[in-house]
Amino acid sequence: MTGDIGTGPQHTGDMDPEAFRAAAHRVAEWTADYLRDIERFPVLSPAPPGTVRRGLPTAPPQNSEPISAVLADIEALLIPASTHWQSPGFMAYFASSGSGPGILGETIAAAFNVNAMLWRTAPAATELEQVTLDWLRQMVGLPQPLFGVINDTASSSTLYALAAAREAQTDLRIRELGMAGRPELPRLRFYASTEAHSSVEKAGIVLGIGKDGLRRIPVDERYRMDPVALRQAIHEDVAAGIRPFAVVATVGTTSTTSVDPVPAIAALCEQHGLWLHVDAAYGGAAAIAAELRWVLDGAERADSIVVNPHKWLFTPIDCSVLWTRRPDVLREAFSIVPEYLTTTDGSEQDAPNLMDYGTSLGRRMRALKLWMVIRYFGTDGLAQRIREHCEYASMLARWVEGEPDFELLAPALLSVVCLRAHPPGLDDPGTLDSLNQRIVERINTDGRFFVSHTRLRGEYAIRVAFGNLRQEQRHVRGVIAALRGAIDDVG
Ligand SMILES: Cc1ncc(COP(=O)(O)O)c(C=O)c1O
Repeated sequence: MTGDIGTGPQHTGDMDPEAFRAAAHRVAEWTADYLRDIERFPVLSPAPPGTVRRGLPTAPPQNSEPISAVLADIEALLIPASTHWQSPGFMAYFASSGSGPGILGETIAAAFNVNAMLWRTAPAATELEQVTLDWLRQMVGLPQPLFGVINDTASSSTLYALAAAREAQTDLRIRELGMAGRPELPRLRFYASTEAHSSVEKAGIVLGIGKDGLRRIPVDERYRMDPVALRQAIHEDVAAGIRPFAVVATVGTTSTTSVDPVPAIAALCEQHGLWLHVDAAYGGAAAIAAELRWVLDGAERADSIVVNPHKWLFTPIDCSVLWTRRPDVLREAFSIVPEYLTTTDGSEQDAPNLMDYGTSLGRRMRALKLWMVIRYFGTDGLAQRIREHCEYASMLARWVEGEPDFELLAPALLSVVCLRAHPPGLDDPGTLDSLNQRIVERINTDGRFFVSHTRLRGEYAIRVAFGNLRQEQRHVRGVIAALRGAIDDVG
């Protein structure tokens, strides 16, 4: 078929199929070795800033270079300057581990390289996304109907959800008229706890509601939003002529994994006609384990929910699921169809055009990796790993509770433990903060583990997060020994 215009990819400058096959085999070998040997590398990269910049030519190559030369640079330059999220010693922030099936899914998605902007530009990717997200909905126990799309990150998902919430204030006609220079527009307000993620505040900035448009609601002693304070805040704002339009409840807060009382928050939202968005970016995955399903109690009443499979579902970054019970409003917020994108393929139900549910026109085939992860592990396999990660957190928390030199700073509800060294008699806040900072630095420079920190009620807290796919009990014992060793060294 292509005989008269060339003999294959070589003619185009791309790899020919055999060269690609050979290179792909090498990359597969490299990947398998990297994952097998991952614990050989210091988890937190010890490379000083500028290492990679200085190691690479400042100008691009004029002529073709062999893939082997590129792979050699990956080994020599990129590995030492990488922080290894795939390592079981990675216990910072929230885990993001790419499993085997997830990595293969990314590879195949890149081979297809479809752009799922319209159903017709990617029928398989569009429908696979719908089916996979309906599977996931069932796995976490949420009722139908729930429409889902995959975005890059929870930050985008939350932005889109709040854009829909703003759009639901139809009388304000913000989509048409914008917000600037309109004195008749009431000030808009939305609510989230003092523990909610910074992406919630960012969404307010992007949507023109501003940082002041987000009212932070205090939390109780377990870092959960106080619904009485929320009710009070809504009443105060209404009385002041401000228009409340949304509440973001968090299931699994970033610092401590606390779970806001979603049923009580949902009741307030229903009473006041507010959009309820549930940020379950990290914690939503826990609901796959039957005994943890309670974390999503009340989420069935939410207008939108975000869960990130790239956090605790072993799917390579990026993969963030946004579900909504009101897809029509989400579509109204974003859909613009210029002539060159019009189609007559079928109903929105049968042939949705996923470009209509967010700011991006182009969309990667992200569902493939998630579908492959779900099929490979099965619901039971995923639940089992999640359960084990929570058990690791309990093991560490029990150790902390039995150690006179350490204390827990928050309940270890899911897979994260917030703790600090607090030797008897050492009570000066500044001294305690600096001791704990030195412990974190000590652990992280040693290389076997990478832990992060947060501040809880003003106090510096060491934050140890389980959730990496490759973690085992020996890693819990290891981090316990590292904590003990660090306080002995720097205390
Ligand atoms: C509770 C919560 N929400 C949202 C986010 C933002 O996630 P992303 O990096 O996908 O934007 C995070 C990140 O850790 C988070 O912990």
